[in-house]
Amino acid sequence: MSNQHEVILILDFGSQYTQLIARRVREQGVYCEIVPFTFAVKKILEKNPKGVILSGGPNSVYEADAPKISAEFYQKINAPILGICYGMQLLAKDLQGEVAPSDKRGYGHAKLKVSSGKTKLFAELPFDLDVWMSHGDHVIGLPEGFHTTATTGDVVTAIENEERKIFAVQFHPEVAHTPLGKEILRNFLFNICNCRGDWTAAQFIKEEIEKIRLLVGETDNVVCGLSGGVDSTVAATLVHEAIGKRQTCIFVNNGLLRDNEFETTLELYKNNLHLNVRGVDASAEFYAVLKNISDPEQKRKAIGGKFIDIFDAEARRIGDVKYLVQGTLYPDVIESVSLRGASVTIKSHHNVGGLPEKMNLKLIEPLQELFKDEVRLIGKDLGIPKEILQRHPFPGPGLAVRILGDITPEKVELLQKVDRIFIEELHNFKIYNDVWQAFAVLLPVESVGVMGDFRTYEKTVALRAVTSTDGMTADWARLPFDFLQKISSRITSEIRGVNRVVYDISSKPPSTIEWE
Ligand code: XMP
Repeated sequence: MSNQHEVILILDFGSQYTQLIARRVREQGVYCEIVPFTFAVKKILEKNPKGVILSGGPNSVYEADAPKISAEFYQKINAPILGICYGMQLLAKDLQGEVAPSDKRGYGHAKLKVSSGKTKLFAELPFDLDVWMSHGDHVIGLPEGFHTTATTGDVVTAIENEERKIFAVQFHPEVAHTPLGKEILRNFLFNICNCRGDWTAAQFIKEEIEKIRLLVGETDNVVCGLSGGVDSTVAATLVHEAIGKRQTCIFVNNGLLRDNEFETTLELYKNNLHLNVRGVDASAEFYAVLKNISDPEQKRKAIGGKFIDIFDAEARRIGDVKYLVQGTLYPDVIESVSLRGASVTIKSHHNVGGLPEKMNLKLIEPLQELFKDEVRLIGKDLGIPKEILQRHPFPGPGLAVRILGDITPEKVELLQKVDRIFIEELHNFKIYNDVWQAFAVLLPVESVGVMGDFRTYEKTVALRAVTSTDGMTADWARLPFDFLQKISSRITSEIRGVNRVVYDISSKPPSTIEWE
């Protein structure tokens, strides 16, 4: 089914900011897709884009293996084109202009002067702008028909050819360090590409429901695994809107969830969202396969394998099921253009793979066009409560990767209590939403303490709170000292068996967010 909304295409040349361009475009209510720079011109035309953006990239245009686009691209694409950074250098070179390496790298803040001549891209903007650069090369000879629209010092920083509808900037309008970048992109989207801005949560939900109905038909059944997290909940709710009770959701308690989470979330699924859901408490089975396992990867394997067995058995009881719903997001499906070695596939081990193959099911992935913040917006429109939408990410193997060493039900219970205090206080101090993720880790360490007149020899817990935008990199959260003091004293006074609390001040890299 073709899209009913406008599309901007972003050709990716490997910049770390490509996804950011996409998010900035979508924030303006315009749908866009990222495709690799190798995407065939024919396929671009099939998508009928309102505009095409050429992203930045780490290469220099004259390098032998620099990414290229074909001459056909310039001949056949009639939609407006915006080149950013590498995109600018590439189109300048391809259209017979001249690009030279700079003697100093143009990296960081720069002062941009908009030329007083005619410019559509900088229309209505001040003549002096703060911008962010990250590339060494620059244009020294303009292609025919182009004129300079902005400079930094004596460097040509923006060019355009209104007749051919080709525009280019050397700097990055998509980053926060270019404060008026949003207005520049707005000019491109609305004044140059004539977009209407028809990408809204309501429109997405409407289109997606139609797509799901068309795909599943009148009679087929669907199964969905719920985790208690944002993505699976939003995916299941969307599918529920489309086909109602023909979707059966399965929510497995692996005994490694947070305190009371299984009960409260199941209740919410049933009574608040009215999902057709089965809760399966398999804690004992998970503890059994985890017995005496200390190695993190073995824990993950044991939990993943058990989950598949339980889910499979439960799904078979439903009978004739053809589809499996998964909450896959856009960053997981973008064909990554990695020009400097493999991109970090940190998440490959995270999801329980193998389910669709084992059960011979086809996939429904209703969120595969969305970024995480968009999923939250869609979820809000679908009436999903804040407590799920704002919930921190939680790993599939749950507390098993937060208990270093082997897992016992007693250790799980202790960690659940510590975690509850931490999370409760983050809410009390109103800082829960300021961190990406916060949790406690039970260390296999005992140390000496003193309580009243007695010497103690008890467990240590580590607290971890990080800020991040995507979990790929992270920094430790600068939590207020009075907050840390409060949780530390609550934990040691309320939880028997813990006499020491430490705060993790490692960033990722070199550490990871989880301890295992
Ligand atoms: P790391 O520890 O790799 O975590 O820095 C990055 C993000 O992924 C989550 N994580 C997992 N999620 N299964 C999951 O579903 C896993 O095995 C897993 N390991 C880490 C982690 O909580 C963080 O949000």
